[in-house]
Amino acid sequence: MGPQISPSILSADFANLQAQVEAVANADWVHVDVMDNHFVPNLTIGIPVVESLVKVSPLPLDCHLMIDNPDRWAPQYADIGAHSVTFHIEAANDPRMCIKDIRAAGARVGMALKPGTDIESYADLLPEIDMLLVMTVEPGFGGQSFMADMMPKVRRVRELIGDAPDSVWLQVDGGVSASTIEQCAEAGADVFVAGSAVFATADPAAMVDRLRALASSAVHHH
Ligand code: DX5
Ligand code: ZN
Repeated sequence: MGPQISPSILSADFANLQAQVEAVANADWVHVDVMDNHFVPNLTIGIPVVESLVKVSPLPLDCHLMIDNPDRWAPQYADIGAHSVTFHIEAANDPRMCIKDIRAAGARVGMALKPGTDIESYADLLPEIDMLLVMTVEPGFGGQSFMADMMPKVRRVRELIGDAPDSVWLQVDGGVSASTIEQCAEAGADVFVAGSAVFATADPAAMVDRLRALASSAVHHH
C-alpha cells in the first residue's frame, strides 16, 4: 500500500463540516481529533458530532482520542461507525482490554504516543494493534511546529514493526506539511495526518495530492 493521507478537520470550518470533508474526498481518511479538556487542554467534539460525520463523510473516519479513560469511551466510537480508533497509551488503564474492546466493536485499533513517551516500554503491544501513532507535536492544538526530533522514534518503530505489506501502519501527526512530510516518509511513516497544511490552503484537495506525491517519492532509508 502506498502512503495514506488523513486530513485533520481540527483546522477545518466546524460550522461546515460536511462541505469540508467533501473537499478532501481524494484523501484516504478523515482524521477526527477528539479532545476532552482533561487529557489535553482543549475541547473539541465527541460522540454526537462524530455520529453525524459518519453519515456524510465520503471517507472512513480516523478518530484520534485525546481523552482520559479511553477504556470506557473508545469502543463507543467504533460502535457508531468510526473505521479506525486511536487511543493514547498514557491515558489507558488496561491497554490490552482497550485494544480488544475497540476491535470487538469493529474498528481498526490505533495506539498513540505523546512526544515524551518512548516506544520501548510498549513494544510488546505492537503485535496487538493495527496502527501506531507517533505524535510530532504535543497533542492539543493544530498549527504547531513539527518536531523533527521525533524522527528517531519513527525509525525505531519502523524497525520494530518491519516492512511486510501487512505490518502495523505507522502514522505521524502534528506539523506535517509539504516541507516536513518527506522526512517522515524517509523515517518510515506511511499514514500522514495534516490539519493546517490542508485546510488553511485555498485548495485542500490539491494539497492532499501534493502531500501524497511527496510522500510517495520519498524513500524509506533503513
Ligand atoms: C493535535 C492533533 C492534530 C492536529 C494537527 O493535537 O492531534 O491532528 O490537527 O494539526 P497540524 O497538522 O496543523 O499540526
Ligand atoms: Zn490528531
